[in-house]
Amino acid sequence: MSNNPSHIAIIMDGNGRWAQAQDKNRTFGHEKGSEVVRTITTYCAKNPEIDRLTLYAFSTENWKRPKLEVEFLMKLLQKYLKQELPTYLEGNIRFQPIGDLSAFSTSLQSTIREVKEATQHCTGLIQSLALNYGGRDEIIRAAVALQAAQTPISFDLISQTLDCDTDVDLLIRTGGDHRLSNFMLWQSAYAELFFTDTLWPEFTTDELEKIIQKFKKVERRFGGLN
Ligand code: FPP
Repeated sequence: MSNNPSHIAIIMDGNGRWAQAQDKNRTFGHEKGSEVVRTITTYCAKNPEIDRLTLYAFSTENWKRPKLEVEFLMKLLQKYLKQELPTYLEGNIRFQPIGDLSAFSTSLQSTIREVKEATQHCTGLIQSLALNYGGRDEIIRAAVALQAAQTPISFDLISQTLDCDTDVDLLIRTGGDHRLSNFMLWQSAYAELFFTDTLWPEFTTDELEKIIQKFKKVERRFGGLN
């Protein structure tokens, strides 16, 4: 029996290096990276084995970047969401952002809410963009909510209170580094990790498909025996 890549999560790294290698501004890499987001999302939406795709678009730590880069990323995100609404609808893709959205401008928050609501009826792939997301921050926010509710803590309750209640099956990081960078810490407890040197702007559906085929052959034991 082969594994089902039901929930794929991707750390999209390498935009800046890709742009700088061509003597371009880092923002050029983010722009190209957003096109790859669309290509990969559309591809996953056509694969009935994939139920959820979670993409790390802006971390709680990314605010430390130069102001101009942060501003560019905010504008790019807003442009992407407005522009890609037809892609979501045509692909039957439900947009389900994760992260602490309260830090964004009211205008960006409205766009996020609009796309979320407009795609709520879609029954195909769930695409989660992780926005102002950090795994530790997500756990802390859930703990604070549970403390306020004064309910007995359980595994299920914690899972359901997190931004994302679905375990990750396959976690991919592009860009050559081998770390989790505070991404999906709870949900990746038994994820299979795949790292590639490919920079995100050069990541293709062919490479994703190759990774999925390798993932399918892995023996997943979840701490047990065969
Ligand atoms: C890492 O590349 C990437 C990010 C910090 C953000 C990811 C953003 C995108 C893929 C584009 C925008 C997304 C959407 C959905 C509009 P890096 O800048 O850390 O690259 P580097 O490691 O080469 O410096």
